[in-house]
Amino acid sequence: MIRFCLNGEWIEETSFDPSWTILAYMRTKAMQLSVKEGCAGGDCGACSVLVGEANSHGAVQYLAVNACIALLGSLDGKYIITVEGLSDGEQLHPAQQAIVDHHGSQCGFCTPGIVTSLAALYHNQGGNSPSDHEIHDALSGNLCRCTGYRPIIEAAKAMNNYPAPHAGAPVLSNVVGHFDPSAPNEGGEAVVDHQGRKLFIPQDEQQLASILAQHPRATIWAGGTDLGLEISQQFKQFDVLVSLHKVASLTDVSENNEHVRFGAMVTYHKSHSVLQQHFPSFAQLLERIGSRQIRNLGTLGGNVANGSPIGDTPPVFFALNARVEIASSRGVREVAIEDFFKGYKQTDLQAGEYLKSIIVPKLTAQQSLHVFKVSKRKEDDISAVLMAARIERDGNTIKEARIACGGMAATPLRARDTEAALNGQPLQLASFEAASEHIKNDYSPITDVRASDAYRLNVAANLVIKTGLASCDKAGVK
Ligand code: FES
Ligand code: FES
Repeated sequence: MIRFCLNGEWIEETSFDPSWTILAYMRTKAMQLSVKEGCAGGDCGACSVLVGEANSHGAVQYLAVNACIALLGSLDGKYIITVEGLSDGEQLHPAQQAIVDHHGSQCGFCTPGIVTSLAALYHNQGGNSPSDHEIHDALSGNLCRCTGYRPIIEAAKAMNNYPAPHAGAPVLSNVVGHFDPSAPNEGGEAVVDHQGRKLFIPQDEQQLASILAQHPRATIWAGGTDLGLEISQQFKQFDVLVSLHKVASLTDVSENNEHVRFGAMVTYHKSHSVLQQHFPSFAQLLERIGSRQIRNLGTLGGNVANGSPIGDTPPVFFALNARVEIASSRGVREVAIEDFFKGYKQTDLQAGEYLKSIIVPKLTAQQSLHVFKVSKRKEDDISAVLMAARIERDGNTIKEARIACGGMAATPLRARDTEAALNGQPLQLASFEAASEHIKNDYSPITDVRASDAYRLNVAANLVIKTGLASCDKAGVK
């Protein structure tokens, strides 16, 4: 059984296909028909819903997520609001009323998703008016083809002028005391067993390890922003799914003098402030990964464990010389991030193992990190090339360059020949210009829909020069 609170009402579901998405559930069982299916790929935002988790004080923070690629089972213990639950009787939510008054809807197909994103912005602003940047960020995962964005943005700017929702409105009622923390699924048994297909929701790492020991080929579900596509677009059904969303220890971020440790289930959203503090160029990259809704769901560990050659965070972890912790019922082992990637979509994870955390050394005063993503669109797009470089200097000499790229090989890969051409050279632009010639020795990229092989090589060589400009600038070298 799973249990969640939908628009203020607790619901229990006992029998459903573990591969069911929130979108499928809302449109075929819960009949919340505001939740639209547009792209079914996490791109258009028509399916956006608000999903919240209660903190230890009983307050719920709602974030907008894409229902089309999120698992129904991942709602267990959570709060969900659709547009049907936003209004309070006849009184529309400020995001709804502002869209009406500013003519932000024509065909209306995108409108529920846009209202959802604006409502998330409204409630997470703490009563402050959002900046232009915050509005654009909140809407980055919502496509509207009819109205154009100007009236929608005007509505966003005006939301705070409307009366706040009444305390009894579903979107607020959970926050003010209807908190029900009891977890219905206490054991390590499958919470759903539907026609032989099983869903497990472990409550801690001990349960997780034991479930994986019994089902070593189980599919592990983190944020699901990539796996969800296998359901929504390839109609895949998984025999054994293990959703990690209740394993609290995997969502921890901790640090000491040497490193920052990210639990594998830390979302892009949650990691942003820590990255901003220690690795600002990494934090800037996050703003280019997917959309607001994707960043609310997607996890750092998922991006690594997925093994993709075009994941955006692994090249940065390569440049930062990160390590990963891999755990199972047999214990925990630590592996250098570079050794984790074994081939195209192949990782060092063995049957029964899971990714526990990513340990990232902090930068020293002599080191600088530079991250560049090149894609056709600024937001919500996959990289043609991503380069991350950590440059360590000793006075005016390059002591060590660690450069890694995504999109240039079957795995994320270091540019070792280019690095060797930089190490020991003066920290000046000419050194990077000369080293950029070596990129062609490091990579033999392919041509695909995102870019040609020649384009990728040219871009990567240019990014080496751009790294030079940025690191010289950082070191105050003219
Ligand atoms: Fe387009 Fe979900 S239907 S993002
Ligand atoms: Fe038609 Fe947005 S109002 S797509």
